Amino acid sequence: MTTGAEIDSPWYEVAALAEMDPDFPTSVEVQGQKVGLFLLDGAVHAIEDVCPHAYALLSQGFQEDGVIECPLHAARFDIVSGKCLTEIGQRDLQCFPVRVQQGRIQLRLQPQAKGAA
Ligand code: FES
Repeated sequence: MTTGAEIDSPWYEVAALAEMDPDFPTSVEVQGQKVGLFLLDGAVHAIEDVCPHAYALLSQGFQEDGVIECPLHAARFDIVSGKCLTEIGQRDLQCFPVRVQQGRIQLRLQPQAKGAA
């Protein structure tokens, strides 16, 4: 029996890198978890897609300069760190580990701590 030891989440294949648009996020759902994918300076970032304030998908928001703005009440979050930049956003977003293998984007649902952008 393991107590307190987390088993690593598997990698889930979620999208093709070639389909990513640097100006528009992509929304995917893995094991019931909605995740927003962002292509920023050639790197893919995955953050939770549901805004902590109420129910809106951040991937349907406005993306600019590494920040995603919620389409409902304009909470803003840093795409790389998940950091909440406006009070209305209430908390930072979970970031998920991402890798690209043979042009396919894979992610883990195990949240990762990221440093400040
Ligand atoms: S639902 Fe995102 S700011 Fe209100």
